[in-house]
Amino acid sequence: MELRGAVAVVTGASSGIGAATALALHDAGATLVLHGRDTARLAELAERTGGAVVTGDLADVAAVPALAEEMLARFGRVDVLVNNAGVGWAGPFGEMTAQDVRRVVDVNLTAPIELTRALLPALRVRPAARVVFVTSIAGRTGVAGESVYSAVKAGLDGFAESLRFELAGTAVRIGVVVPGVVDTEFFARRGRPYERSSPRPVPAARVAAAVLRAAREDRADQYVPRWLRLPVLVRGVLPGVYRGLAARFGGSG
Ligand SMILES: NC(=O)c1ccc[n+]([C@@H]2O[C@H](COP(=O)([O-])OP(=O)(O)OC[C@H]3O[C@@H](n4cnc5c(N)ncnc54)[C@H](OP(=O)(O)O)[C@@H]3O)[C@@H](O)[C@H]2O)c1
Repeated sequence: MELRGAVAVVTGASSGIGAATALALHDAGATLVLHGRDTARLAELAERTGGAVVTGDLADVAAVPALAEEMLARFGRVDVLVNNAGVGWAGPFGEMTAQDVRRVVDVNLTAPIELTRALLPALRVRPAARVVFVTSIAGRTGVAGESVYSAVKAGLDGFAESLRFELAGTAVRIGVVVPGVVDTEFFARRGRPYERSSPRPVPAARVAAAVLRAAREDRADQYVPRWLRLPVLVRGVLPGVYRGLAARFGGSG
């Protein structure tokens, strides 16, 4: 798909992977609708890219259809939707409050499903359209201390895969980008910094490049970094071996 001239909505554009994706899409000639809550950061990004800003809290899932209307109204069409916004939570599951659970589920799973539902009719009338989901390796392997986050990212993966089958033969293609550890504010925001020595965090721009490949080249599934495919493969073929290795070397925080 040609990104020059395409209208691209990026959720969570105010920070990290979303901001890097917005800049990469701008460099590729796309027209941007920048979403987030942080108005100052979004205004700065809009200044750099000429994009339009739409603010809204994705925890308020009932408001997502109105948010979609606003996004669509900015340029009268949408060709690319990047469902990137997300929030983490780390710690023992028993310490999560019902409110914590609701926020993680709503922002990471219900909101992107709702936004996709609301924008799909507009995407379907375009000659070519893309929906890209930023999920997580946590959703493919499970991680101790991130049970609800892992569950919603796995849910988003399942939604994307099903939608890809359902929309086969239409102009709307679905891509999933599965990052490992990325150097963003994600860890500080969730309240538990990333302290392991490996794997080393990758720059957000690398994930952004994968999002652009998903849109341009219709790539269904990409891991960043690419070697992350390996543990997922081992888990699929030899789950007992995987669990033994994960218990020893990782998968636990
Ligand atoms: N960093 C990693 O290691 C990593 C690994 C795997 C997957 N991911 C996924 O990558 C995506 C981007 O994360 P990031 O690393 O770039 O983190 P980040 O720097 O913390 O950015 C998160 C973005 O999501 C937006 N957001 C969070 N809660 C929101 C809410 N309630 N309503 C609206 N927007 C909200 C934030 O916007 P405001 O600040 O303006 O509210 C921000 O733009 C997430 O889906 C995350 O799960 C990250």
